[in-house]
Amino acid sequence: MKLPKTAKIHEVGPRDGLQNEKAPVSTTDKIALVNALAQAGLTSIEYGSFVSPKWVPQMADSDEVGRLITRLPGISYQALVMNMKGYERAKATGMDSVNIVTGVSETFNRKNMNAGVDESLENYRPIIAQARQDGIQITAYVSTAFGCPYEGEILFANVLEVSRKFLTMGADEVILSDTIGCAHPKQVSELLAMHLEHIPVDKLGVHFHDTRGLALANVLAALQLGVNRFDGSVGGMGGCPFAPGAQGNVCTEDLVFMLEEMGVETGVNVPALIEVSRTVEGLLGRALPGHIKSAKHKPSYLERK
Ligand code: HMG
Ligand code: MG
Repeated sequence: MKLPKTAKIHEVGPRDGLQNEKAPVSTTDKIALVNALAQAGLTSIEYGSFVSPKWVPQMADSDEVGRLITRLPGISYQALVMNMKGYERAKATGMDSVNIVTGVSETFNRKNMNAGVDESLENYRPIIAQARQDGIQITAYVSTAFGCPYEGEILFANVLEVSRKFLTMGADEVILSDTIGCAHPKQVSELLAMHLEHIPVDKLGVHFHDTRGLALANVLAALQLGVNRFDGSVGGMGGCPFAPGAQGNVCTEDLVFMLEEMGVETGVNVPALIEVSRTVEGLLGRALPGHIKSAKHKPSYLERK
């Protein structure tokens, strides 16, 4: 099997993971989580989102989190924003990359950000221009790329149109996102193959939720096409509050474990990540869905010391 030699893992646990949690997680615990993820070797971490606290109260303290995390060299600390107010807040905390998002589905977009698809793209124009001026990288998420909780099937052509618009507007990369975890590997292959006819592979990434247990299979489908930029969430927590039925993101330690076992280097330390995952389970008071941390027979290098 021909696979990329390395993969870039972007950790979304402190943002996608915690944005949907019912029980509050303290700012101190969020800061410790981001720092522990960095210590585990993750070089790209989304520490929060700067949206309206009325819409997503769980992320209201992202300013403090961003200001108080320990910045390690070589790590890209990233934040999700949806408007200029959010961009300015996030910039004040010193983000390295701004993550913007638009759904392909009109209904999802209105429910998630109170704007239609074209309207939201236009709203991002000044943010992209400002980020360029500020020397901040721009990552654009294309949500509901594989299906929508409100509209169902999404046409490939419409996904490609949003991806190309984002890149034409100045985004550095586009992340095709399976918001509700409904994608399957054949669909992933076909949508990515279509994108790769127009977009270089190093400008494409994927963000899979694992609602139906197919996220790792979808990762493999992407890998086989040379796509090697993956989002994951420690323990497998996650979900969008405005996408009913969405469950957690692909679990980062399971994702890294699979890649490393197949010889795809990530630079992430799985045993350290498993410890972070156990700490998060303690914080949330429940078991998280990831598999490798509780596998009875695992390679000796993963056994608890
Ligand atoms: P709106 O109600 O149209 O905005 O919401 P508005 O401008 O009328 O503002 C409403 C109130 O919010 C005002 O306060 C604003 O000041 C305040 P008031 O005057 O009523 O006191 N406000 C803000 N406060 C602080 N920071 C801000 C900010 N913006 C407005 N940045 C808006 C529009 C975009 C703000 C809203 O829809 C929103 O916050 N949505 C957040 C939705 C969200 O976070 N969803 C989850 C993340 S997306 C995701 O998870 C998908 C992803 O993982 C990929 C995938 O899986 O598909 C990325
Ligand atoms: Mg998500």
